[in-house]
Amino acid sequence: MSAATYTSLITDEVQSVPKVLIVDDNETNVELICMHLKPLNYQIHKAYDGDQALQMVAKDEPDLILLDLMMPRISGYEVCQRLKSDPKTALIPIIIITALRELDDKIKAMDLGADDFLIKPFNKIELLTRIRSLLRMKQLYDELDHSESVVFALAETLEAKDIYTRGHSERVSKYSVILARELGLSVEEIEVIKKGALLHDIGKIGVKDTVLNKIDKLTPEEIAHIRTHPARGFEICKTLKSFKKFLPIIRWHHERIDGKGHPDGLTGDQLPVAAKICSVADAFDAMTSNRPYRKGISPQQAASIFEREMTTGQWEPEIVKIFIALVRRSYKDK
Ligand SMILES: [Fe+2]
Repeated sequence: MSAATYTSLITDEVQSVPKVLIVDDNETNVELICMHLKPLNYQIHKAYDGDQALQMVAKDEPDLILLDLMMPRISGYEVCQRLKSDPKTALIPIIIITALRELDDKIKAMDLGADDFLIKPFNKIELLTRIRSLLRMKQLYDELDHSESVVFALAETLEAKDIYTRGHSERVSKYSVILARELGLSVEEIEVIKKGALLHDIGKIGVKDTVLNKIDKLTPEEIAHIRTHPARGFEICKTLKSFKKFLPIIRWHHERIDGKGHPDGLTGDQLPVAAKICSVADAFDAMTSNRPYRKGISPQQAASIFEREMTTGQWEPEIVKIFIALVRRSYKDK
């Protein structure tokens, strides 16, 4: 990439103006709103039915949508419902602008996730005030999203630093998700487990490379140093409010149900299921991955070890039992 391209990328980001999408099948209404918004110099995009609106959002995500309810083919209700139920677009603020006066319609739109509601003919000042306030909120969400991306990028960097466990977090996340599904956890819980497992070893960023990549046996001091990583990961992520849900996995993935794990020595009844799942997935990947000083064992051999060690107090037996069945089913012919 040339220096000029970098400059233009940075400048674009700094100078980006909010994108507002106006959706109404009545052209006169669209033009009226455009006229009101003109002094604010926003980027205005226009759609004249629900279908066109959804296509435009998929192509170029706006920062805010002004949405009419009664439109041919796909109604505003449906547009709102589809956008708010998709995690990729759920945070785009939607203001419903409609001629409908009934309270029921307002409640229905709000139930679908609309952020605000204005009745035509609307007051220009009120419209602009609400737009500005929702755009501020969207900007905060975007900034938060950037902070999250930075931490996930850090986790990826870690994989490069720890040369012997490359791809480990990805795999632990994958196994944890499969196990969580098998245990019947909700979609939301599975999403937390997926991301939490990706971040579970993030604290290793603070562990010395010489210890992390040491081939020979670790000294007691070095073991103690490596064992600081769950608490270090917790410290890194605790300041991000949106990462609160990942903290149990990050801090407690090396706990044992008999209370002999670290860093807090919690017992089975104190540990959340997410941490217990990640702990099993983590051990499975450690057993089946190659290290410079030993070859990884096969998934079937790992299943046999889990079977033997099931009641030693390291893992939750119920979770291990389900995991063994999963492994045996998945690697039957391999
Ligand atoms: Fe770990």
